[in-house]
Amino acid sequence: MDGMTQYQTITDSSTVLRDGTIKLHGPEGFAGMRAAGKLAAEILDALAPHVVPGVTTAALDDIVREMSIAGGGVPATLGYRGYTHSCCISINHVVCHGIPGDKTLKDGDIVNIDVTPLVDGWHGDSSRMYLVGDVPLKARRLVEVTYECLMLGIAAVRPGARLGDIGAAIQRHAEANRYGVVREFCGHGVGRLFHDAPEVVHAARAGTGPELRPGMFMTIEPMINLGKAPVKLLEDGWTAVTRDRSLSAQFEHSIGITETGCEIFTQSATGMHKPPYV
Ligand code: MF3
Ligand code: CO
Ligand code: CO
Repeated sequence: MDGMTQYQTITDSSTVLRDGTIKLHGPEGFAGMRAAGKLAAEILDALAPHVVPGVTTAALDDIVREMSIAGGGVPATLGYRGYTHSCCISINHVVCHGIPGDKTLKDGDIVNIDVTPLVDGWHGDSSRMYLVGDVPLKARRLVEVTYECLMLGIAAVRPGARLGDIGAAIQRHAEANRYGVVREFCGHGVGRLFHDAPEVVHAARAGTGPELRPGMFMTIEPMINLGKAPVKLLEDGWTAVTRDRSLSAQFEHSIGITETGCEIFTQSATGMHKPPYV
């Protein structure tokens, strides 16, 4: 299959199409993603004190929209394929794409907030978990291990490695903890396009898939379930939940492959990368 993979070098003047090619970016792309990623991290940092019992998810969405605009961007999710909100907020057994609304957070919830500010044409896609009040140990462990899964996936990224090495690292750690790795949603190429090739699956065999090359931009965003892996979609067409209603956690970074490893564009400058955010 790897013989079929097409790579395309992108410059400032390139027309960027969703044509299945893996884009290879230069310094201007890294600069663009650095700015978008920085804003994503700042938004996720700023949300922390607001993620408390009684707050509505719509109020959190308002903060994301206002901060995206104040920071010189727009939420890429606004109007994306009919989605009308500035972020996704996924509570407890919601795996991803939870829609902000009247719902209030309650003590003991675990919550993912996923933001994608679009800044000067570049997408900074990142999500984190937040703990609401007193969270039981089992749920906190899921959150901790899911963060470790993301970072182990990122640690597998360097030129010459294969795409499957990322999913292999994630799957090994999740399953060693007897958690389920969600298969229905993946990470993705990112950059001028929100969702581009390749699909970054979070369960895979090491040594398989396209070769990782300098200049590739992608997200890694494992969704890990306390119970079984399968998910189902609710009637709203967006909200994905665990079939067995077990808790689910997710962290996401946007990264760029360098000559020696990778750069995390969405890293928090304040060290607020995982809960508890104190
Ligand atoms: N940010 C999500 C991702 O990680 C995508 C959300 S698309 C939306 O890829 F339309 F649901 F907001
Ligand atoms: Co995202
Ligand atoms: Co993403």
